[in-house]
Amino acid sequence: MRNLLKGGLRRLARVETPKRPLGTKKATVIAVSAQKGGVGKTTTSVTMATALARFHGLRVLLVDLDPQGHVTRSLQANLKPGGGKLSEVLLDDKREAEVMDVVATTGIPNLYLTPFDEKLGATEDLLSTRIGKEFVLKEALDATRTHYDVIVLDCPPNLGNLTLNGLVAADQVLIPCDPSPLALNGVAALVETISTVATRLNPELDVLGVLLTRVDGRNTTLNAAVEEEILKEYGPALLPMRIGISSSLAKAQMEGQDIFAFDPSSRGAAQYKELAAHVSQYLNG
Ligand SMILES: Nc1ncnc2c1ncn2[C@@H]1O[C@H](COP(=O)(O)OP(=O)(O)O)[C@@H](O)[C@H]1O
Ligand SMILES: [Mg+2]
Repeated sequence: MRNLLKGGLRRLARVETPKRPLGTKKATVIAVSAQKGGVGKTTTSVTMATALARFHGLRVLLVDLDPQGHVTRSLQANLKPGGGKLSEVLLDDKREAEVMDVVATTGIPNLYLTPFDEKLGATEDLLSTRIGKEFVLKEALDATRTHYDVIVLDCPPNLGNLTLNGLVAADQVLIPCDPSPLALNGVAALVETISTVATRLNPELDVLGVLLTRVDGRNTTLNAAVEEEILKEYGPALLPMRIGISSSLAKAQMEGQDIFAFDPSSRGAAQYKELAAHVSQYLNG
Protein backbone atom coordinates (compact mmCIF):
# COMPACT_ATOMS: atom_id res chain seq x y z
CA MET A 1 0.00 0.00 0.00
CA ARG A 2 2.77 2.32 1.00
CA ASN A 3 4.63 1.73 -2.26
CA LEU A 4 1.47 2.15 -4.23
CA LEU A 5 0.80 5.47 -2.58
CA LYS A 6 4.32 6.65 -3.21
CA GLY A 7 4.14 5.60 -6.85
CA GLY A 8 0.87 7.47 -7.17
CA LEU A 9 2.35 10.59 -5.63
CA ARG A 10 5.27 10.40 -8.02
CA ARG A 11 2.91 10.25 -10.98
CA LEU A 12 0.97 13.21 -9.62
CA ALA A 13 4.09 15.34 -9.14
CA ARG A 14 4.84 17.77 -11.89
CA VAL A 15 7.95 17.26 -13.95
CA GLU A 16 10.34 19.91 -12.68
CA THR A 17 10.97 22.30 -15.52
CA PRO A 18 12.19 25.84 -14.93
CA LYS A 19 9.25 28.23 -14.62
CA ARG A 20 10.99 30.97 -16.59
CA PRO A 21 14.03 31.38 -18.82
CA LEU A 22 17.05 31.28 -16.54
CA GLY A 23 19.75 33.93 -16.59
CA THR A 24 23.41 33.49 -15.80
CA LYS A 25 23.53 35.43 -12.51
CA LYS A 26 22.98 34.37 -8.93
CA ALA A 27 21.80 37.34 -6.93
CA THR A 28 22.67 37.91 -3.32
CA VAL A 29 19.41 38.74 -1.56
CA ILE A 30 19.72 41.45 1.11
CA ALA A 31 16.75 42.04 3.43
CA VAL A 32 16.72 45.54 4.94
CA SER A 33 14.77 45.02 8.12
CA ALA A 34 14.04 46.64 11.46
CA GLN A 35 11.10 46.28 13.78
CA LYS A 36 10.75 50.01 14.36
CA GLY A 37 9.33 52.37 11.74
CA GLY A 38 11.11 55.55 10.71
CA VAL A 39 14.66 54.29 11.27
CA GLY A 40 15.66 54.61 7.62
CA LYS A 41 14.80 51.18 6.15
CA THR A 42 13.32 52.58 2.94
CA THR A 43 15.93 55.34 2.61
CA THR A 44 18.67 52.72 3.08
CA SER A 45 17.08 50.19 0.69
CA VAL A 46 16.51 52.75 -2.06
CA THR A 47 19.80 54.62 -1.69
CA MET A 48 21.97 51.51 -1.33
CA ALA A 49 20.24 49.82 -4.30
CA THR A 50 20.65 52.97 -6.41
CA ALA A 51 24.33 53.34 -5.49
CA LEU A 52 25.07 49.68 -6.29
CA ALA A 53 23.41 50.14 -9.70
CA ARG A 54 24.92 53.56 -10.47
CA PHE A 55 28.48 53.16 -9.22
CA HIS A 56 29.21 49.45 -9.09
CA GLY A 57 27.75 48.26 -12.39
CA LEU A 58 25.47 45.79 -10.63
CA ARG A 59 22.04 44.80 -11.91
CA VAL A 60 19.81 45.49 -8.92
CA LEU A 61 16.19 44.61 -8.12
CA LEU A 62 14.45 46.48 -5.33
CA VAL A 63 11.47 44.55 -3.92
CA ASP A 64 8.99 46.62 -1.90
CA LEU A 65 7.69 44.26 0.78
CA ASP A 66 6.19 47.12 2.80
CA PRO A 67 2.49 47.69 2.00
CA GLN A 68 3.03 51.44 2.49
CA GLY A 69 4.67 51.57 -0.95
CA HIS A 70 7.38 54.03 0.06
CA VAL A 71 9.90 52.57 -2.39
CA THR A 72 7.74 53.61 -5.32
CA ARG A 73 7.17 57.03 -3.80
CA SER A 74 10.90 57.49 -3.21
CA LEU A 75 11.70 56.86 -6.88
CA GLN A 76 8.50 58.26 -8.41
CA ALA A 77 10.29 60.73 -10.68
CA ASN A 78 12.32 57.91 -12.23
CA LEU A 79 9.61 55.30 -12.51
CA LYS A 80 8.71 53.88 -15.92
CA PRO A 81 5.18 52.56 -16.48
CA GLY A 82 4.85 48.81 -16.17
CA GLY A 83 5.28 46.09 -13.62
CA GLY A 84 2.52 44.32 -11.74
CA LYS A 85 1.30 43.29 -8.34
CA LEU A 86 3.62 41.51 -5.95
CA SER A 87 0.56 40.34 -3.99
CA GLU A 88 -0.56 38.28 -7.00
CA VAL A 89 2.84 36.60 -7.12
CA LEU A 90 2.76 35.81 -3.40
CA LEU A 91 -0.83 34.54 -3.47
CA ASP A 92 -0.59 32.56 -6.71
CA ASP A 93 -2.33 29.25 -5.93
CA LYS A 94 -0.20 27.27 -8.34
CA ARG A 95 3.00 28.81 -7.01
CA GLU A 96 4.22 29.35 -10.53
CA ALA A 97 4.37 33.14 -10.57
CA GLU A 98 7.78 34.76 -10.27
CA VAL A 99 8.75 38.17 -8.91
CA MET A 100 10.35 38.89 -12.32
CA ASP A 101 6.82 38.89 -13.81
CA VAL A 102 5.91 42.11 -11.96
CA VAL A 103 9.12 44.12 -12.18
CA ALA A 104 9.12 47.71 -13.50
CA THR A 105 12.10 49.49 -15.01
CA THR A 106 13.38 52.83 -13.75
CA GLY A 107 15.17 55.72 -15.42
CA ILE A 108 18.30 54.69 -13.49
CA PRO A 109 20.29 52.20 -15.57
CA ASN A 110 20.53 48.76 -13.95
CA LEU A 111 17.87 49.52 -11.31
CA TYR A 112 14.54 47.67 -11.32
CA LEU A 113 11.74 47.54 -8.76
CA THR A 114 8.39 46.05 -7.83
CA PRO A 115 5.90 48.95 -7.85
CA PHE A 116 3.37 50.00 -5.19
CA ASP A 117 0.67 47.39 -4.70
CA GLU A 118 -2.38 48.38 -2.68
CA LYS A 119 -3.22 44.70 -2.07
CA LEU A 120 0.02 43.93 -0.24
CA GLY A 121 -1.47 44.86 3.14
CA ALA A 122 -4.12 42.13 2.87
CA THR A 123 -1.47 39.68 1.68
CA GLU A 124 0.13 39.79 5.14
CA ASP A 125 -2.95 38.01 6.58
CA LEU A 126 -3.88 35.90 3.56
CA LEU A 127 -0.43 34.28 3.66
CA SER A 128 -1.28 32.79 7.07
CA THR A 129 -3.55 30.20 5.50
CA ARG A 130 -0.95 28.86 3.06
CA ILE A 131 1.03 25.68 3.57
CA GLY A 132 4.72 26.54 3.71
CA LYS A 133 3.77 30.21 3.92
CA GLU A 134 7.31 31.22 4.94
CA PHE A 135 8.80 29.99 1.65
CA VAL A 136 6.50 31.73 -0.83
CA LEU A 137 8.84 34.64 -1.67
CA LYS A 138 11.94 32.45 -1.74
CA GLU A 139 10.29 30.17 -4.32
CA ALA A 140 9.08 33.15 -6.35
CA LEU A 141 12.71 34.32 -6.61
CA ASP A 142 14.03 30.97 -7.95
CA ALA A 143 14.30 32.11 -11.58
CA THR A 144 14.28 35.84 -10.79
CA ARG A 145 17.55 35.69 -8.91
CA THR A 146 19.37 34.35 -11.95
CA HIS A 147 18.77 37.71 -13.68
CA TYR A 148 20.18 40.07 -11.03
CA ASP A 149 23.40 40.59 -9.08
CA VAL A 150 21.67 41.95 -6.00
CA ILE A 151 18.07 41.83 -4.79
CA VAL A 152 17.21 44.29 -2.00
CA LEU A 153 14.07 43.63 0.07
CA ASP A 154 12.59 46.68 1.84
CA CYS A 155 10.76 44.96 4.73
CA PRO A 156 7.79 46.32 6.70
CA PRO A 157 8.27 47.53 10.30
CA ASN A 158 6.99 44.41 12.04
CA LEU A 159 7.86 40.74 12.30
CA GLY A 160 4.82 39.47 10.38
CA ASN A 161 4.48 37.12 7.42
CA LEU A 162 5.96 39.50 4.86
CA THR A 163 9.10 40.12 6.93
CA LEU A 164 9.33 36.39 7.67
CA ASN A 165 9.18 35.69 3.93
CA GLY A 166 11.89 38.31 3.44
CA LEU A 167 14.16 36.66 6.02
CA VAL A 168 13.63 33.19 4.56
CA ALA A 169 14.38 34.44 1.03
CA ALA A 170 17.44 36.45 2.11
CA ASP A 171 21.13 35.60 2.24
CA GLN A 172 21.94 38.68 4.32
CA VAL A 173 20.10 41.04 6.65
CA LEU A 174 21.02 44.70 6.92
CA ILE A 175 19.61 46.28 10.09
CA PRO A 176 19.22 50.07 10.13
CA CYS A 177 19.03 51.50 13.64
CA ASP A 178 18.68 55.11 14.74
CA PRO A 179 20.30 56.15 18.00
CA SER A 180 17.30 55.63 20.30
CA PRO A 181 16.53 53.10 23.04
CA LEU A 182 13.38 52.00 21.17
CA ALA A 183 15.33 51.21 18.02
CA LEU A 184 17.87 49.28 20.10
CA ASN A 185 15.09 47.12 21.57
CA GLY A 186 13.89 46.54 18.03
CA VAL A 187 17.35 45.30 16.99
CA ALA A 188 17.35 42.81 19.86
CA ALA A 189 13.93 41.44 18.87
CA LEU A 190 14.95 41.19 15.21
CA VAL A 191 18.24 39.45 15.98
CA GLU A 192 16.30 36.87 17.98
CA THR A 193 13.95 36.30 15.03
CA ILE A 194 16.91 36.06 12.64
CA SER A 195 18.48 33.36 14.86
CA THR A 196 15.23 31.38 14.89
CA VAL A 197 14.85 31.68 11.12
CA ALA A 198 18.48 30.64 10.63
CA THR A 199 18.01 27.59 12.85
CA ARG A 200 14.68 26.41 11.53
CA LEU A 201 14.07 27.78 8.04
CA ASN A 202 17.11 29.32 6.36
CA PRO A 203 20.51 28.07 7.52
CA GLU A 204 22.23 30.30 4.94
CA LEU A 205 20.98 33.49 6.59
CA ASP A 206 23.64 35.89 7.82
CA VAL A 207 23.75 39.42 9.21
CA LEU A 208 25.44 41.91 6.88
CA GLY A 209 25.54 44.44 9.70
CA VAL A 210 23.81 46.99 11.88
CA LEU A 211 23.81 50.43 10.24
CA LEU A 212 23.53 53.50 12.45
CA THR A 213 21.24 55.96 10.66
CA ARG A 214 19.78 59.40 11.33
CA VAL A 215 22.68 60.17 13.62
CA ASP A 216 22.40 63.71 15.00
CA GLY A 217 25.97 64.94 15.37
CA ARG A 218 24.95 67.31 18.17
CA ASN A 219 23.71 64.50 20.39
CA THR A 220 27.15 63.15 21.21
CA THR A 221 26.27 61.63 24.60
CA LEU A 222 23.29 59.65 23.31
CA ASN A 223 25.17 58.56 20.18
CA ALA A 224 28.12 57.29 22.23
CA ALA A 225 25.80 55.42 24.63
CA VAL A 226 23.91 53.71 21.78
CA GLU A 227 27.13 52.83 19.96
CA GLU A 228 28.60 51.35 23.10
CA GLU A 229 25.48 49.26 23.63
CA ILE A 230 25.49 47.95 20.04
CA LEU A 231 29.21 47.18 20.23
CA LYS A 232 28.70 45.33 23.50
CA GLU A 233 25.79 43.25 22.16
CA TYR A 234 26.72 42.73 18.51
CA GLY A 235 30.42 43.66 18.34
CA PRO A 236 31.81 43.60 14.82
CA ALA A 237 28.31 43.52 13.28
CA LEU A 238 28.21 47.31 13.74
CA LEU A 239 29.11 48.75 10.34
CA PRO A 240 31.96 51.29 10.31
CA MET A 241 30.16 54.13 8.47
CA ARG A 242 27.43 56.35 9.98
CA ILE A 243 24.47 57.93 8.19
CA GLY A 244 23.96 61.39 9.67
CA ILE A 245 20.75 63.39 9.65
CA SER A 246 20.67 65.00 6.22
CA SER A 247 17.73 67.09 5.10
CA SER A 248 18.74 66.36 1.49
CA LEU A 249 17.86 62.69 2.01
CA ALA A 250 14.37 63.57 3.25
CA LYS A 251 13.87 66.15 0.47
CA ALA A 252 15.05 63.75 -2.23
CA GLN A 253 12.55 61.16 -1.00
CA MET A 254 9.76 63.76 -1.13
CA GLU A 255 10.74 64.70 -4.68
CA GLY A 256 10.80 61.04 -5.74
CA GLN A 257 14.44 61.21 -6.73
CA ASP A 258 17.50 59.35 -5.54
CA ILE A 259 20.01 61.41 -3.58
CA PHE A 260 22.70 60.98 -6.27
CA ALA A 261 20.52 62.85 -8.77
CA PHE A 262 18.94 65.25 -6.28
CA ASP A 263 22.01 66.40 -4.34
CA PRO A 264 25.11 64.42 -5.30
CA SER A 265 27.47 66.53 -3.21
CA SER A 266 25.46 66.14 0.03
CA ARG A 267 26.77 64.36 3.08
CA GLY A 268 23.95 61.82 2.79
CA ALA A 269 25.08 60.93 -0.74
CA ALA A 270 28.69 60.48 0.38
CA GLN A 271 27.76 58.35 3.39
CA TYR A 272 25.49 56.03 1.42
CA LYS A 273 28.21 55.72 -1.24
CA GLU A 274 30.45 54.47 1.55
CA LEU A 275 27.83 51.89 2.53
CA ALA A 276 27.47 50.71 -1.09
CA ALA A 277 31.25 50.40 -1.49
CA HIS A 278 31.38 48.31 1.68
CA VAL A 279 28.52 46.07 0.53
CA SER A 280 29.96 45.68 -2.97
CA GLN A 281 33.32 44.63 -1.53
CA TYR A 282 31.58 42.24 0.86
CA LEU A 283 29.65 40.66 -2.01
CA ASN A 284 32.87 40.14 -3.94
CA GLY A 285 34.14 38.12 -0.98
N1 LIG B 1 19.66 60.17 7.34
C1 LIG B 1 18.49 60.82 7.30
N2 LIG B 1 18.45 62.15 7.50
C2 LIG B 1 17.28 62.82 7.47
N3 LIG B 1 16.09 62.28 7.24
C3 LIG B 1 16.06 60.93 7.03
C4 LIG B 1 17.24 60.14 7.04
N4 LIG B 1 16.90 58.86 6.80
C5 LIG B 1 15.57 58.85 6.65
N5 LIG B 1 15.05 60.09 6.79
C6 LIG B 1 13.64 60.49 6.72
O1 LIG B 1 12.98 59.91 7.84
C7 LIG B 1 11.72 59.37 7.47
C8 LIG B 1 11.68 57.88 7.73
O2 LIG B 1 12.68 57.25 6.93
P1 LIG B 1 12.38 55.89 6.14
O3 LIG B 1 13.61 55.53 5.39
O4 LIG B 1 11.14 56.02 5.36
O5 LIG B 1 12.20 54.90 7.40
P2 LIG B 1 11.48 53.46 7.50
O6 LIG B 1 11.44 52.86 6.15
O7 LIG B 1 12.35 52.72 8.47
O8 LIG B 1 10.11 53.73 8.07
C9 LIG B 1 11.51 59.72 6.02
O9 LIG B 1 10.79 60.92 5.93
C10 LIG B 1 12.95 59.94 5.50
O10 LIG B 1 12.98 60.86 4.43
MG1 LIG C 1 9.83 52.19 5.01
